[in-house]
Amino acid sequence: MPQSTRISPSGISPSGISLADLEPLVVLTGAGISAESGVPTFRGEGGIWQSHRAEDLATPFAFERNPELVWEFYNWRRNLIAQCSPNPGHLTLAQMEIVIKDFLLITQNVDGLHHVAGSINILEIHGSIWQIKCTICGEIRIYRQTDEASTVPMCQVCGELMRPDVVWFGEMLDQEKLNQAFESAARANTMLVIGTSALVQPVNTLPLIAKEAGARLIEINPSPTPLSPIMDMRLSGPSGEMLPGWWDEVKKVSLNSN
Ligand code: OAD
Repeated sequence: MPQSTRISPSGISPSGISLADLEPLVVLTGAGISAESGVPTFRGEGGIWQSHRAEDLATPFAFERNPELVWEFYNWRRNLIAQCSPNPGHLTLAQMEIVIKDFLLITQNVDGLHHVAGSINILEIHGSIWQIKCTICGEIRIYRQTDEASTVPMCQVCGELMRPDVVWFGEMLDQEKLNQAFESAARANTMLVIGTSALVQPVNTLPLIAKEAGARLIEINPSPTPLSPIMDMRLSGPSGEMLPGWWDEVKKVSLNSN
């Protein structure tokens, strides 16, 4: 197995990876990629689950028990995210997609910042905070309300309670999205794993699937994760700095080899 490699934020890359080496490229992102935009992560210092109980706010049971409280939490998050902009990590991924045609971005984030940055082929595997879904008829609609005091929305089709169109603890992921994610992981040449603690299933199995199928794994995260030992390369630092530096290196290597 190749040795893990670290590159410094100054961008000196011993990777020697060129563009042609990357396709198909699958990128998996987690809350860490949005941290530099001001969106709190879930775990670790300042993480949402340090100050809020997931059991009270992000499970179907919590919603059944107290929909107002759950909506209050999501209204707060929508309001906060609306004030955040994509950072150089998001923007670099959007630039990469212009050059790398066989490219899929799988994100666990519900914040929509990859869309704002200009990424196109995105699989929002945990849903989107900007969409809501009827608890009864399943009607889905865009919801861009950012007023923290907004009331619980009701379905315009059947009049029943709407919920955020996100995946909660204890819920299944959308099977179609999951299948696409598994298939892409299995055919990836390279998988970039950025800003995720890799603690949540089933998404944390995607890098394992890719690895088993022979892909190169690169992790960008200031802290090690349970997946770090199987990485071919680790860029230890904030993705807003590490990703643009690494991408510049890849482009340089490609230019020199042409
Ligand atoms: P976590 O909060 O679990 O992990 C965030 C990761 O980002 C950690 O490994 C940090 O070290 C890393 N990190 C922090 N700052 C960073 C930076 N500037 N650049 C790069 N990495 C940084 O978030 P996720 O792994 O995304 O699920 O969490 C997975 C799922 O758990 C979420 O989608 C959500 C949550 O509960 C649901 O709501 C279903």
